[in-house]
Amino acid sequence: TWTMANVVEEQVEQIRAQVGDRRALCALSGGVDSAVAAALVQRAIGDRLTCVYVDHGLMREGETEQIERDFVAVTGADLRVVDAREQFLSALAGVSDPEEKRKIIGREFIRVFEQAALDVVSDAKSHGETVDFLVQGTLYPDVVESGGGSGTANIKSHHNVGGLPEDLTFTLVEPLRTLFKDEVRQVGLQLGLPETLVWRQPFPGPGLGIRIVGEVTQERLDVLRKADAIVRAELSAAGLDREIWQCPVVLLADVRSVGVQGDGRTYGHPIVLRPVSSEDAMTADWTRLPYDVLARISTRITNEVEEVNRVTLDVTSKPPGTIEWE
Ligand code: XMP
Repeated sequence: TWTMANVVEEQVEQIRAQVGDRRALCALSGGVDSAVAAALVQRAIGDRLTCVYVDHGLMREGETEQIERDFVAVTGADLRVVDAREQFLSALAGVSDPEEKRKIIGREFIRVFEQAALDVVSDAKSHGETVDFLVQGTLYPDVVESGGGSGTANIKSHHNVGGLPEDLTFTLVEPLRTLFKDEVRQVGLQLGLPETLVWRQPFPGPGLGIRIVGEVTQERLDVLRKADAIVRAELSAAGLDREIWQCPVVLLADVRSVGVQGDGRTYGHPIVLRPVSSEDAMTADWTRLPYDVLARISTRITNEVEEVNRVTLDVTSKPPGTIEWE
């Protein structure tokens, strides 16, 4: 019979058969998919797996720390964190076009990851070993939406570790390739990953970089991070984390509107809430959040985030809207 325990066991066996006693490398993104893929491979080959996490500075509040703490605590994985925040910010300076941003983030990610991979490989070599495998948390919908499955058009440049250094040839290990998100979560739970990680909502690889409509700057990232943290805290407090698929919080950085606060006129930026319900992100509906939750979020953001004077709600389904704004 088809149970999660069987799925895990089967995958572990397959990974062992594929990797044997060689070494593998995994890029952790902070999301569920790469964490579950890494945990599966860790279960199969132990410390012959090295994980690399690129901190591009586009993560939400506390996320990098959470990966460093929670993931390592449970799996005992060998994790290397690369601080590339400066590099990404300077690469993104002056860029507002969504596809250009995605390409830059993807390119810088590969550059940083390449270097980290070379480091891991040369460390292994000094022990007389080779690193032949790259673990990726590719899911079934990723395969389909990137045109790899049923030939659908490429809507957005999805950011995954696609390009690899020419002098490094890895064989891909993709243990989640046939699974949908809900199945991946079950696998994660089966592997003992904490619920905070397993039930984490999807978050795009390019992170907050594609949730700032306009140029990405340090100041704008700080504003968006504060607003996003409030939204996440209020949705969690209302017990809505599992009701909604994800709730992008978007900063319209090039838009200003007039407001009034206290005795003064304000001229700040709008924040857009994009709560969606979905099965697999291929289609989505906007989530009918309770008005009192929306009210609390709005009050808190406009009180606590100085640069924001207006909170708006996106009520568009997918299609025609995509989930992310860029
Ligand atoms: P869209 O905006 O295309 O998003 O409706 C569908 C789902 O994919 C996530 N997303 C990404 N995930 N890399 C990722 O790993 C990306 O570049 C990327 N772009 C969008 C998005 O958050 C949603 O869950």
